[in-house]
Amino acid sequence: MREQLAELLEQGRSALMAADTADALQQARVALLGKKGSMTGIMKGMGRMTAEERPVIGALANKIKVELEALFEERAAIVQQQEMQQRLASERIDVTLPGRTHARGSKHPVTLVTEEICDIFASLGFGVEEGPEVEQDFYNFEALNMPKDHPARDMQDTFYINDDVVLRTHTSPVQIRAMLKHAPPVRVIAPGTVYRRDSDITHTPMFHQIEGFLVDRHITFGDLKGVLTTFITQFFGKNVGVRFRPSFFPFTEPSAEVDIQCVICGGSGCRVCKKSGWLEILGSGMIDPEVFKSVNYDSEKYSGFAFGMGIERIAMLKYGVNDLRLFFENDVRFLQQF
Ligand code: PHE
Repeated sequence: MREQLAELLEQGRSALMAADTADALQQARVALLGKKGSMTGIMKGMGRMTAEERPVIGALANKIKVELEALFEERAAIVQQQEMQQRLASERIDVTLPGRTHARGSKHPVTLVTEEICDIFASLGFGVEEGPEVEQDFYNFEALNMPKDHPARDMQDTFYINDDVVLRTHTSPVQIRAMLKHAPPVRVIAPGTVYRRDSDITHTPMFHQIEGFLVDRHITFGDLKGVLTTFITQFFGKNVGVRFRPSFFPFTEPSAEVDIQCVICGGSGCRVCKKSGWLEILGSGMIDPEVFKSVNYDSEKYSGFAFGMGIERIAMLKYGVNDLRLFFENDVRFLQQF
């Protein structure tokens, strides 16, 4: 039995030294010292021993057991340390990596321009009004001096819901709604979405306009020029050239289109202004007495002016955007720039 025990010590030592994980070490220990392990097996032979031999072998077995336990503890500490190092290496976090940020939203350029225009007119005493996008023929056409068979209806390719209801083709119906609601004097600015059956590089079936109008006693074309020039110089800068050009709208008389000096070339002529040096930015005029009739305003007592402009067009000029479609594709790389 002495030899068996000595052999167990040797084998145990090399088994514990060879184990290089906590699991393998534990298994080796159980195989050596567990209930069904080698030591237990050897000790079963104790029964055949003499009374003198038994305590001596018992003490030897105990000594070997203590030695193997100590070796186990020693190895366990080393293996644990190794496993910890491995984990630290494999789970290492690079704290210098830049963090993942959330994409931040921003206002759409059409919204920005709408707000800026409304702010300028608010500072001139105009109040904001809105009207429906699905509109009755009466407000969109009839009350604006465009009766059913008027050729001017052809100026706007209309989406019809039925004979009496359309998608509004401009924001001018808000003039009618506002004048029916308020007695003069009135000063209103009305931003909104409008629709026309038109689709090419410079037209989309849906776009945005801002309407404005003012009615009071003694309002003249001079007031129209003054208000619009004030707006344009505040919006585009005080050095931009402005010109009023005779035009026609069924609901204004006289009518004028307003041009600004080309913001791209400064007036010397380029592709954007088609070599003319000027860019058309809005339609305007003195409100036609026929319109006053349909809202029961007394055109002997009151006069006024109105104007309407396309917001996308103004945004393109302000930000130097050369393709209308960019406003509606919702490409974040485009939108992030504003
Ligand atoms: N409603 C006209 C259009 O869409 C613009 C306009 C508004 C012209 C008000 C004159 C007065 O073209």
